[in-house]
Amino acid sequence: MLRRPLGNTGTTVSAIGLGCMGMSEFYGPGNDEQSLETLAAAVDQGIDFLDTADMYGLGRNEELLGRFLKGRRERIVLATKFGIVRNPDDPAARRIDNSPQYVRQACDASLRRLGIETIDLYYAHRRDPSVPIEDAVGAMSELVRAGKVRYLGLSEVAPETLRRAHGVHPITAIQTEYSLWSRDPERQMLATCRELGVTFVAYSPLGRAFLTGAVGSDESFAPGDFRRTNPRFQGDALRTNLRLVQGLAEFAAKRGATSAQIALAWLLSKHPNVVPIPGTKRPRYAVENAAAAQIELDSGEIAALDELFDPSAVAGDRYAPAGMANLESA
Ligand SMILES: NC(=O)c1ccc[n+]([C@@H]2O[C@H](COP(=O)([O-])OP(=O)(O)OC[C@H]3O[C@@H](n4cnc5c(N)ncnc54)[C@H](OP(=O)(O)O)[C@@H]3O)[C@@H](O)[C@H]2O)c1
Repeated sequence: MLRRPLGNTGTTVSAIGLGCMGMSEFYGPGNDEQSLETLAAAVDQGIDFLDTADMYGLGRNEELLGRFLKGRRERIVLATKFGIVRNPDDPAARRIDNSPQYVRQACDASLRRLGIETIDLYYAHRRDPSVPIEDAVGAMSELVRAGKVRYLGLSEVAPETLRRAHGVHPITAIQTEYSLWSRDPERQMLATCRELGVTFVAYSPLGRAFLTGAVGSDESFAPGDFRRTNPRFQGDALRTNLRLVQGLAEFAAKRGATSAQIALAWLLSKHPNVVPIPGTKRPRYAVENAAAAQIELDSGEIAALDELFDPSAVAGDRYAPAGMANLESA
């Protein structure tokens, strides 16, 4: 497995990580035993960068990772996140909290659920506009000094926020949606990360399964599936976007690869500091996705994919309005 630097830390991670969110929520029902097999299959392929968050499955995803980490802790770079606060009685409702008091409390709760002493990479999941970023990162840096966290990250923030945060404590990684159909980070964030030596972790790199070709025009997602309310998966937008996926499938067939593998290879070939974290709860997809690290695209192929997925050709926002309101512009 190809490896990439983790920020300026001197350590590296597998160039393809594993997103664990869907194992516990958001993309239909999960199965913990199968998810544990998926985690083991990913590690067998050389993947050692695992991504979770305290809000996935209201803590159940961290608990699942805790089960997996037993006996393997030292071989894994474990990333988790805090800051999106949910109400167990009303899981759809959420607020953002980056206050120093909440940061400390959330970290202790994550450590408990994960059953570990130190989180390798701890992200603020969303920016809380009521707390200056300097205060939030200041509180996060105290966790580093206390030995509860190794490295710090931020998710879905603007380049200017990254610069301010980096002035308080080195930021090791930015995690933001980036894929063929979500290209906002190309405007400024990728260049800012490269300049500062920050790893760019690309979430939803398979477009929440859309880019793999697994989603059809008459798709009816299970109750509670996030994609039921995502604008890109609705009606006319879905039909428009499916034309792009058809082009990707044809490109992949010519290269003797799957669409998922080309979507991941495009991310890796495009920027040297990008690490995609495709999500899956199936061992065979974990194996297929890991193999994408062996595919190199030349500049002509990258340009062809860039053009096929020109941002003006993609229909629909990345989130419904309430979710869009919590994103800073990349
Ligand atoms: N920071 C943030 O705000 C944020 C937001 C969203 C996600 N994330 C992180 O990023 C990770 C990845 O993103 P994601 O899970 O949202 O989306 P994704 O990786 O783009 O897509 C995941 C979906 O693709 C399917 N899939 C995976 N590999 C496949 C393959 N080879 N062929 C066909 N289908 C395949 C999965 O199916 P199965 O589930 O059936 O295997 C799942 O439905 C998450 O797990 C989470 O850790 C972070």
